[in-house]
Amino acid sequence: MSSVKVGLLGFGTVGQGIASVLARNADEITRRCGRRVEVTHAAVRDVAKAQAAAAEANLDIQITDDAASVVSHPDIDIICEVMGGEQPALDLCLSALAHGKHISTANKALVAVHGNTLFAAAQKYKVMFGFEPSVAGGIPVIKAVREGLAGNRINSVAGIINGTGNFILTAMTDQGRDFNDVLQEAQALGYAEADPSFDVDGVDAAHKLTLLASIAFGMPLKFDEVLIEGIRNIEQEDVVHANELGYAVKHLGIARRRNIEGKTAVELRVHPTLIPQRQLLANVHGVMNAVLVDSDAVGQSLYYGPGAGSEPTGSAAVADVIDMVRALGSDPTHQVPPLAFQGNALEDIPVLGADDIETGFYCRITAEDKPGVMADIAGIFGKHNISLEAILQKEPDADNAADENAATLLPIVLLSHQVREGVMRQAIAEVEALQSVPSAVVLLRVENL
Ligand code: HSE
Repeated sequence: MSSVKVGLLGFGTVGQGIASVLARNADEITRRCGRRVEVTHAAVRDVAKAQAAAAEANLDIQITDDAASVVSHPDIDIICEVMGGEQPALDLCLSALAHGKHISTANKALVAVHGNTLFAAAQKYKVMFGFEPSVAGGIPVIKAVREGLAGNRINSVAGIINGTGNFILTAMTDQGRDFNDVLQEAQALGYAEADPSFDVDGVDAAHKLTLLASIAFGMPLKFDEVLIEGIRNIEQEDVVHANELGYAVKHLGIARRRNIEGKTAVELRVHPTLIPQRQLLANVHGVMNAVLVDSDAVGQSLYYGPGAGSEPTGSAAVADVIDMVRALGSDPTHQVPPLAFQGNALEDIPVLGADDIETGFYCRITAEDKPGVMADIAGIFGKHNISLEAILQKEPDADNAADENAATLLPIVLLSHQVREGVMRQAIAEVEALQSVPSAVVLLRVENL
């Protein structure tokens, strides 16, 4: 039987990982899916650079800058889209689907924003559309949630799903290194997106959370409704206070099912989060990712592994490819639906706005060191019925204490129990209006998971 031919759109870090994994493990993969599978074509912008990379890896691949010729090539059955960005990736994928090609993509931005269109096109042309490499790199978390947990009602998904962000937070915490210095290293290692602001501002994690939420709850993709905050504003001081209180600061994506007056709604949010140091998630370091799923039959299950990188992400794409090879010639409507639930059974579950999220809070208030200040602050929290779990009052910092003319300022750190975010923000506005509180309060969310 002839081999199954795969065409790549892009031949960068992930594309090279796919080609290498398929070539090195060709015999094992043939035993798994019954056909030999090989990458035969790759479309790129810089042909000479890709040819050099292919030669160095000893890969015999036809490299072209004509992507349209790859997506329409009569010998190619499967396309791996690893070029990134929304366009021209979207048009090329739609063209590939129209030509009857199955697709696996590592492009979470593409799926999060245009997935509803792409899945409909895949259904129309009776082909498969996989996105295992889009979420958490080498961790087979899409398959785990979509298939392994298919018998469960899923309550929540919470994870470290941006390797670059976790790499930066880990190095800043453990090595006291500068943000930009660590970011450059992450870029050199191929972890960061072409536009690294996607990593540090939380957009990449939001793309991935959008996909996880849809397969967990059976809802259409709602990227536009995710609350997104990144790690740019995390200060060393807050990492230190959090540690003293027994918490680590991690950037989490959280999708949680809520019951509001008998109706289901979901929280979709990515933001820096304090989590107890004893949690396994708090001990996920560097570029590693981990996703914690809470479901009714299993309880909590945790999926851990490399969240980015050439062969880990390549491995996830190859797993999609193997599923597609096994399904060649069969009716794809009999395969696992891309969003885990039948397309006509997706529910338009409402996403809660920021004010309605419920979580604990870490508040760092910089206040004048004078009698009554703590009572004023505690009074405001009490008035709003916000229950406090811990209070940490620090010495004034040395620079401030040395300035004889300035009022002495000191940081007061409070941890609250769970509260509706709108209530907390109202209380914080009142704290910031106090004359003895001269600057903005630092507010971070806390999850005990
Ligand atoms: N930039 C992404 C990350 C790559 O750092 O997690 C993997 O999606």
